[in-house]
Amino acid sequence: MILYLLFTAFIGLAILLLCLYLRNPYVWKDLSFAVTLIQIALRMNKIKKQKPFYSILECFLEKVARQQPHKKFIVFEESSYTYSQADKESNRVARALSTHAGLKEGDTVALFMGNEPHYVWIWLALVKLGCTASLLNNNIRSKSLLHCFSCCEAKVLVAGADLQAAVEEVLPALKQQGIRVFILTEDCSVEGIESLCDKIQQASDQPLSPQLSANIDIKSPALYIFTSGTSGLPKAAIVSHEKLWMTSFVLSLVGVRSDDIIYIYLPLYHGGGFLMGLCGAIEKGITVVLRRKFSASQFWNDCRKYNVTIIQYIGEIMRYLCNTPKRDNDRDHKVRLALGNGIRADTWAEFLQRFGDIHICECYGSTEGNIGFINYVGKIGAVGKEHFIHKMRYPYALIRYDPEKEEPVKDSRGFCIRVPRGETGLLVSKIGERTPFSGYAKNEQQTEKKRLRNVFVKGDLYFNSGDLLKIDNEGFVFFQDRVGDTFRHWKPMKGCQNMDFDSKATYQHVQNFLPSYARPRFIRIQDTMAMTGTFKQIKVTLAEEGFNPTIIRDPLFYLENNKGYVPMTPEIFDSISDGRMSL
Ligand SMILES: *[C@@H]1O[C@H](CO)[C@@H](O)[C@H](O)[C@H]1NC(C)=O
Repeated sequence: MILYLLFTAFIGLAILLLCLYLRNPYVWKDLSFAVTLIQIALRMNKIKKQKPFYSILECFLEKVARQQPHKKFIVFEESSYTYSQADKESNRVARALSTHAGLKEGDTVALFMGNEPHYVWIWLALVKLGCTASLLNNNIRSKSLLHCFSCCEAKVLVAGADLQAAVEEVLPALKQQGIRVFILTEDCSVEGIESLCDKIQQASDQPLSPQLSANIDIKSPALYIFTSGTSGLPKAAIVSHEKLWMTSFVLSLVGVRSDDIIYIYLPLYHGGGFLMGLCGAIEKGITVVLRRKFSASQFWNDCRKYNVTIIQYIGEIMRYLCNTPKRDNDRDHKVRLALGNGIRADTWAEFLQRFGDIHICECYGSTEGNIGFINYVGKIGAVGKEHFIHKMRYPYALIRYDPEKEEPVKDSRGFCIRVPRGETGLLVSKIGERTPFSGYAKNEQQTEKKRLRNVFVKGDLYFNSGDLLKIDNEGFVFFQDRVGDTFRHWKPMKGCQNMDFDSKATYQHVQNFLPSYARPRFIRIQDTMAMTGTFKQIKVTLAEEGFNPTIIRDPLFYLENNKGYVPMTPEIFDSISDGRMSL
């Protein structure tokens, strides 16, 4: 009898699971993602309640003290440093900075340097002192360097040895503001720049008192990270310790294990490299292979040499890798997971075919935003997948958007309108206790611009992502466009190679794939594109250069209504300029 009941129950369960599977082929992945989400939510809740505040530094120090002092933490070129060594190095830096720069809790220090182990030691040192780090892009110079520096009221600038000339250029302005300037060299003969390496070496590596950061809590700013500035001057996004914790859990969310090795070549001044990569690695206690900068030709050699299992990518990196000459050992590596954003569907397929079975995990998110998505099932082309637990914790919506007026469409009562499934809408996500939006440092105007009020009911408050997304019937999230980013589609399209630009095919393609408002009115053909340090295209310069055929030497085409792309002429330019021809 019992056996019979068990048997019936078993068959019943099997049928139920089969039905579930047929209705939703991703049921297992959804379930396992649910388990991970719940684990992380519990962990986050515990961290929020813990007193005194348990920062990511505390997590690091536990690994140093008990769990794995002798495990490799940072591998850089021919050197490697264990968790314990990294801790001692950062003690020295903290002591040197507190003695010679007079740093104390609450101060901000700007870091202006490329990827190297000192980046990590200095950051850990700053957390030990209760200070905030402002991560400057090491490619910026003069005016924009000063602009970024002054965004966060930093008292001290620490610069890499290779950036002395860039620092000297802005030194008079820094000195006028009474800024202390340090450079990572043994000595320095320039008046107003102090060497730091000698001071670090002389300092003791004994632990620092936790009292030094006793007033820091989960809402305190941990970092300032700058937006990439593809569409204007960079803004300093405030990254609280809470946000830092949340982004560092992304590695756990995508299934990184404690024996994995992550390759960080993305700049550490950027959220991808610093938050998801470095902080994620600390949270998991894994080894980081740090590289000064990306090199397509060295990429796989590094992965082989250091047994890398996890890589990150951004923008066009994957395409660069696919464009390298094919080699016999293309599949000879241990990389099992690639995490990032912005891979195009055709590159995705090509990458897998060429480099083997690597799980590509597209993510959507921004440094300042309070919402993110992860495409945890690996569906080609999607930047994420909806999940009911995620949606419960992070309420968001896609709302109808008017691209001409550049604002959300309102209903008769003045509220926003949710788009039906399958339609493109502006992503907004509720700002609340669990989903804070910290905004930009000293820039209430830009911060307010990202806040949307009275969205669905009077008095509610949402974060305006500025991104147009689409969510399909299965819950897959697709990136469509950035709001106001008129120049996004000025990128090379298939079959546009210089002289053999096929205007007919391009017109067909554009008509098929782009909504009317997003179709490029002008096409300019360039051999190479100017990129930011994070491999995003610089649109401002392109926008400034406009479409004047007498200024631009590149081949230039104009979209004539219902006709197609015709070569741009001074006549067309003039009639557009004086309004005889409207766009
Ligand atoms: C990589 O792994 C192989 C085999 O598992 C091992 O022999 C080698 O020492 C490892 N290399 C590094 C740099 O850890």
